Amino acid sequence: MDRITIGRMENAPVIDRNIYGHFAEHLGHCIYEGIFVGKDSRIPNVNGIRSDVVEAMKRINLPILRWPGGCFADEYHWRDGIGQQRRRMVNTNWGGIVEDNTFGTHEFMELCRQVGCTPYVNVNVGSGTVREMAEWVEYMNSDGDSTTVRERWDNGRKEPFNVRFWGIGNENWGGGGNMRPEYYSDVYRQFQTFCRTYGDNVPYRIACGSDGEDLEWTEVMMRTAAKFMDGLSLHYYTVTKTWEDKGSATEFDDELYLQTLKKALRIDELITNHGAIMDRFDPERRIGMIVDEWGCWHNVEPGTNPGFLYQQNTMRDAMVAALSLNIFNRHSERVRMANIAQAVNVLQSIALTDGDKMLLTPTYHVFDLYQGHMDAELLQCMVECKSLKNGIGQLSVSASRKAEAITLTIANFTDETTVRIDGVNAKRVSGRILKGSPRAYNTFDEPNFVCPDSFGEVKLFDDYVEAKLPANSIVALSFN
Ligand code: AHR
Repeated sequence: MDRITIGRMENAPVIDRNIYGHFAEHLGHCIYEGIFVGKDSRIPNVNGIRSDVVEAMKRINLPILRWPGGCFADEYHWRDGIGQQRRRMVNTNWGGIVEDNTFGTHEFMELCRQVGCTPYVNVNVGSGTVREMAEWVEYMNSDGDSTTVRERWDNGRKEPFNVRFWGIGNENWGGGGNMRPEYYSDVYRQFQTFCRTYGDNVPYRIACGSDGEDLEWTEVMMRTAAKFMDGLSLHYYTVTKTWEDKGSATEFDDELYLQTLKKALRIDELITNHGAIMDRFDPERRIGMIVDEWGCWHNVEPGTNPGFLYQQNTMRDAMVAALSLNIFNRHSERVRMANIAQAVNVLQSIALTDGDKMLLTPTYHVFDLYQGHMDAELLQCMVECKSLKNGIGQLSVSASRKAEAITLTIANFTDETTVRIDGVNAKRVSGRILKGSPRAYNTFDEPNFVCPDSFGEVKLFDDYVEAKLPANSIVALSFN
């Protein structure tokens, strides 16, 4: 029998709710169609924002949303997206289509208002200027009677938005300017200087971090700019095969399934390695590691625009979400935010849309199952698991405690197994489960083919608990 032992930690960190964050870029049908349909659409909406998607986001208490990119951020000029006359541009990163800037600052803030989430705005460093960024911060956050603030008033918003989270550039080692870390760290220092405090809103400044593999980038950033940052990002995508041929989102055999999991599990090692560098320069762990892009990147669905990154989402993706969130929880002493890419219709989405239809993906349901971890105290979890497949253990686990309730999430990658759970001392237990073949997914004809159910295969004994986990299942247990 496999075994999980749970215990309290000394100086246990709190799992930041922003680890359950999301990301929406002007890419394919993420913003337009996926989120924003316009006031005149026949699709039910409030101020142009589709209500089905907002309701779905609210149900998982989506805590924070990053926007407008990604690569798009480093070509985005925020003034193009305010006022009556919006400038049209070509979205050179994503499909070369015309971006008419209908969705801009006010629309994004309206989306966050409707969802009830925190905005995280990523500014343009690659092709923007310090002044442009400084004025965006002023436009959003100042209540002074300046020309820039008057523009905001003219656009219908009297009160400052008080945006706290600011990303200074995106992937500036690549699409954001092909900079060397020595150069970017100076540019970063300059930009962040003018990301000003207005009133009592002190900006949380996030510097562009590594692509995952590049430890040198983190080393240089920490050595030269640590005292000027609150967060340092890290991007990591799970690509099953190669970047040239990533593999299909839905057609794969069991070997590729395990390969995907193995690649996804690597983020644990990356966080540890980058975290060790951060620890040398910031032993107090003041600076957050911000994993603001992560998730599975598969080949696009056949017949779709290759620049739109539209992919289906199976139980395999749900497993990747489950194990990744377990890893982020376990590293919450350093990881303060994570944003899965991307919210709707792009990469590992929580929702897919087709006209007025919307479906929730298996990945969505993982975020639903894991809600108990948000803002909870991290618990220690020891896993003794007999079965190893393709070099990986069968179970991925994390646990947390809020008031008297313990949440334990377990992803069982392969065969049915029974686990003994020690250390919970509970009187009551309830559970939910998501299960299915790794190749199972939801379609617009069968939107609930993969969806959570209540889980009853769990027994409380005097000093331990036993749970029978079906093959390929993700279980969230709640103990009181
Ligand atoms: O999420 C898609 C793209 O992946 C983002 O725009 C970019 O930051 C990353 O390379």
